Amino acid sequence: MSKYDLDGKVAIVTGASRGIGEAIARGFVEAGASVVISSRKPENILPVADSINDQYPDRAIGVPAHTGRRVETISLVELAVEKFERIDIAVNNASTNPHFGPLLSSEESQWDKIFEVNVKGYFWLCQAAALQMIKQGQGGKIINIASIAGVEPGFMMGIYSVSKAAIIMLTKSLAIELGKDNIQVNAIAPGFVRTSFSKALWDNPSIYDSIIRRTPAGRIAKPEEIIGITLYLASSASDFTTGAVYMVDGGYTLS
Ligand SMILES: NC(=O)c1ccc[n+]([C@@H]2O[C@H](COP(=O)([O-])OP(=O)(O)OC[C@H]3O[C@@H](n4cnc5c(N)ncnc54)[C@H](OP(=O)(O)O)[C@@H]3O)[C@@H](O)[C@H]2O)c1
Repeated sequence: MSKYDLDGKVAIVTGASRGIGEAIARGFVEAGASVVISSRKPENILPVADSINDQYPDRAIGVPAHTGRRVETISLVELAVEKFERIDIAVNNASTNPHFGPLLSSEESQWDKIFEVNVKGYFWLCQAAALQMIKQGQGGKIINIASIAGVEPGFMMGIYSVSKAAIIMLTKSLAIELGKDNIQVNAIAPGFVRTSFSKALWDNPSIYDSIIRRTPAGRIAKPEEIIGITLYLASSASDFTTGAVYMVDGGYTLS
């Protein structure tokens, strides 16, 4: 199991105050890493860092940072280096979706918001983290949380789907560029996961039933079920894996 060990590694996880990001951050800490976790609101992120530190002293810092703002993402990376002296793993997880409806009804402000956070925001962290990893000279791991919506269009979530497809292409493009630096860049495409982000879907009985009918696993996921693949992609077990997209969807996209 030592291939999956994260002992002494330092990871940044965005959008880690709840849901999938929090689960990933806690999974990393259990595997031995220290984590720099962020979300927009201090009242959301600081208690999560405190609760990790209660169990694993001095292994987490919580940083309020809006990933759509480049300067805040750069300071997140700088703070991580200041506190833990290096970065080995960066997980882009914070996303937004302010538009639910037909694409033809979408507005420019919604396109801007979604692209600012889901695409440019992901790139700002990739860029700042990769530059630091290159400086350290020991490789690194970048993991982008995409979605099955990046592979097949999400119902009434056109802009979000386009942004998630962009994340997949960003992942592949960077994987090519950073291969020579021994930095692996991969994406995870979760299916339906029980979090507040997707509540409008799983809380609606007719939408929920149609999801379950199409899912071979017969259920939606818990956030903790995204940890396994993330640990693989963050650890040396995945040193020859790059530019890949892992569907974690209970088989939803098979049918
Ligand atoms: N849940 C699903 O079914 C599902 C399916 C496929 C893919 N995904 C993807 O999984 C990722 C996590 O989703 P989730 O379901 O875990 O969502 P969630 O439970 O709503 O959590 C979202 C997290 O992101 C933070 N956040 C939101 N906007 C931010 C911003 N601009 N800058 C920094 N932090 C921000 C939130 O905290 P603050 O409010 O404090 O900022 C929170 O910590 C997203 O990329 C999503 O697209 C989710």
